[in-house]
Amino acid sequence: MEEKIKKAPKKNTVESQMLVIFGSNGDLSKRKLLPAIFQLYLDELLPENFILIGAGSQEKDEETNRTEVYESLLQYAKAASIAESDKLQAFLQRLYYIKINNQNEEDFEALKNYIDRLSYSLNIPKNIIYYFSIPPFLYEVVAAHLVTYGLNTEEDGWKRIIVEKPFGYSLETAIDLDKKLRTGFNEDQIYRIDHYLGKETVQNIMVTRFSNGFFEPIWNRKYVDRIEITAAERIGVENRGGYYDTSGAMRDMIQNHLMQVLAIIAMEPPSIFDSESIRNETVKVLQALRPIRTAEIPNYVVRGQYIATEVDNILQEGYRQEKNVAPNSKTETFVAMKVFIDNWRWGDVPFYIRTGKQLPERVTEVIIHLKPAPHQLFKQRCVAQSTNMIILRIHPDAGVAVDFGMKIPGAGYKVQNVNMAFHYSDLAENKISEAYERLLLDCMIGDSTLYARADAVKASWKFVDPILQAWKNNPEIPLYFYECNTWGPNESNLLFGDKQLKWRVPFNKFKTI
Ligand code: BG6
Repeated sequence: MEEKIKKAPKKNTVESQMLVIFGSNGDLSKRKLLPAIFQLYLDELLPENFILIGAGSQEKDEETNRTEVYESLLQYAKAASIAESDKLQAFLQRLYYIKINNQNEEDFEALKNYIDRLSYSLNIPKNIIYYFSIPPFLYEVVAAHLVTYGLNTEEDGWKRIIVEKPFGYSLETAIDLDKKLRTGFNEDQIYRIDHYLGKETVQNIMVTRFSNGFFEPIWNRKYVDRIEITAAERIGVENRGGYYDTSGAMRDMIQNHLMQVLAIIAMEPPSIFDSESIRNETVKVLQALRPIRTAEIPNYVVRGQYIATEVDNILQEGYRQEKNVAPNSKTETFVAMKVFIDNWRWGDVPFYIRTGKQLPERVTEVIIHLKPAPHQLFKQRCVAQSTNMIILRIHPDAGVAVDFGMKIPGAGYKVQNVNMAFHYSDLAENKISEAYERLLLDCMIGDSTLYARADAVKASWKFVDPILQAWKNNPEIPLYFYECNTWGPNESNLLFGDKQLKWRVPFNKFKTI
């Protein structure tokens, strides 16, 4: 395959630029963005001439901002990074701050002047990334204000915006948001971030498939029986009840993260490895998803909600008791679904996707279940039923495992399933970057491969929106309750339509038997 993708930059080869974070005092900024940028700085991947401008609603001077960022880095950056305290001090000197009310158009004139001043005094070209770490209803407002003051024009340097999910609330609102953003920015200036695509192990799915001769020939309906994708979380909604209650697991995890993972698992090999070719292939998968009609929902989609449960003598609150959640909320905190991709490669192979909060483990993995050998010579001798699986573990304990039958040593031909696993942690000399580090750096060098393209976002909404509408309009479609620390409602196993089959219980260290 021709190698066309932009290479990882050599140290300090990224163009000089500024990063403006709208919502710089918020949770995302503190927990993820600032630690990621600091790490890029430590890894010497930021340009020599780089500044970070925080744009937030609080009134504070530059020094107070630096002190606050310092404190939040102490809390959220990796301990090893913090140990480099002289570098931390040097990093803080690259931070600037301006108070902005995002709703107030004139504040953007002040922002423009501030950028002009900094650009002049620090001799930084106006290559600018605007990071929208703000509530989604403000995306179009901020974009419009940037346009009003010409902060989107590229005559004096490139301009890019990074937009966090959710990209819209439904198909219609997603299309509308896109239209509004596109009035001031071209598609190649819009970076829709999906942090799952920034995960090293998600990218590795492509490498596993396309750089080895032996996976791809079996990666199709002839050899694959079914595919399971699980993204389980131990935590509940924590302090995000207000957001989550208007979102739910379908919008929060499936419409974006898991659809992107599905697309990478199911895509055709691109002819060249560049951003457009890869995204051309992934969008085709999403466009080929077989629609699920309202009447089919009970057989294809199971939704659930966690309830108050005593776990290890501690009472875990139910979803409806969480802060800022309606006491009679019907929002789903668990979804399991069966999905088909109507194309030649995958015709009639079911993809089972599930996600949920308050489950027993935090684990994301993809299981390719292969069809059994056509003639079962050792059927009578198996200790356990012989199964062939390829497990792509995204986290924790990232890696790849293959599960297959082996002869138990000794007389006769007794067969047992064994597991051959590669753990990323064994590549000890290579640290795995956090998703945000990788994605921010990609945007800085203008590589959008790992960002969602508008047509993919639209195709994914087109698939999930009718299900959301059906749930809304047909209250009789059940919402199953499940106890915390369980794998969600038992009804999710009925999706397999076969009493022998169940969701795999993910074990740490890929243990499968
Ligand atoms: C976020 C969702 O996008 O992804 C959260 O909004 C979820 O609800 C998180 O907890 C999961 O990400 P990860 O990387 O922990 O699997």
